Amino acid sequence: MSVHVQNTRMTTTRIRQMKGVEKITMLTSYDFTLARLVDEAGVDVLLVGDSASNIVCGNQNTLPITLDEMIFLTRGVVRAAQHALVIADMPFGSYQINDDEAVASAIRILKESGADAVKLEGGAEVANAIRRMVKAGVPVCGHLGLTPQSVNQFGGYGLRAKQEAEAEQLIRDAKLLDEAGCFCIVLEKIPAALAAKVTAAVSCPTIGIGAGAATDGQVLVLHDMLGLNGDFKPKFLRHFAHLAEPVHDAVTGYISAVKDATFPSPEESY
Ligand code: KIV
Repeated sequence: MSVHVQNTRMTTTRIRQMKGVEKITMLTSYDFTLARLVDEAGVDVLLVGDSASNIVCGNQNTLPITLDEMIFLTRGVVRAAQHALVIADMPFGSYQINDDEAVASAIRILKESGADAVKLEGGAEVANAIRRMVKAGVPVCGHLGLTPQSVNQFGGYGLRAKQEAEAEQLIRDAKLLDEAGCFCIVLEKIPAALAAKVTAAVSCPTIGIGAGAATDGQVLVLHDMLGLNGDFKPKFLRHFAHLAEPVHDAVTGYISAVKDATFPSPEESY
C-alpha cells in the first residue's frame, strides 16, 4: 500500500486543520534510527513519550525518567524528522511543582532538544501552566483519561472515566485545555462513547489510545504495535507486525555462525 508523504514539515497549525478532515497518525519514537523509518513511512507526529522510561530504560513506570534524559532522547528523534511534527513528553516532576517551573521546563525542552511541542498530563490543575506556555510560544498537547504519571494515585492502568462524575469532569477538563490553547489532546483508555463526546466538545483535535475510533487521530507505542514488547497485548493494541521473532532468529543465527566459525566468511574479511 502506498502512503502519500508530504514534502514539507508538519506544523501544529496543520494538525489543527486536520480535525474533521483527515485522521491524524502519531507513533512514539525514542531514537534516530527507528524515528527515521517511522518518519519516512509518513506518520504525522513522532511522540517522544515518557513511555521511554519503560521501553528504553526498563523501569516499571514512567515516573523515574528525567528532563535531561527526555531532552537527550528527543534530540535523536528531531534529527530524524524530515516530515513529522515532534512532540516531547514533559516528565513527572518537571511541571507539577509550580507554573514557573513548568514554563521553564517546557522552554528547556524546545531550546535544548529542538522539539516542536511538548505534551503534559492533567486537566484543570495544569490549565494555567499551559496557558502560560502557549503565551511564551510553546505549543502544547494535553493528555487526559489514563495519565500514567498518576499511576500511584489510580492504583493501576485500568479504564478511566467509567462513572458519570469522572466522565463529566473529563469533558470539563478537555474544554479547559482547549481554551488554554492546546493544539491537540491525547485521550488515553476511556470509553469510546466518551471520547466521541469530548471530540465533539473541543475545537482542537483529539488523539486516542484505547479511546475508540471517533477521535481525530490515533497514537500507539511503536514497540507495542511492532510486537516487540513481549506478552503486552491490552485490548486496544493491534500488533501491526511481530518483530520479536525475526529479531530473536537473527540473533540466534548470528550466535550459531560465530560459534561454528562460518561468520565472517572470506568475502566478509579484508
Ligand atoms: O508516553 C507515551 O508513550 C504516551 C502515549 C501512550 C500517548 O504518552
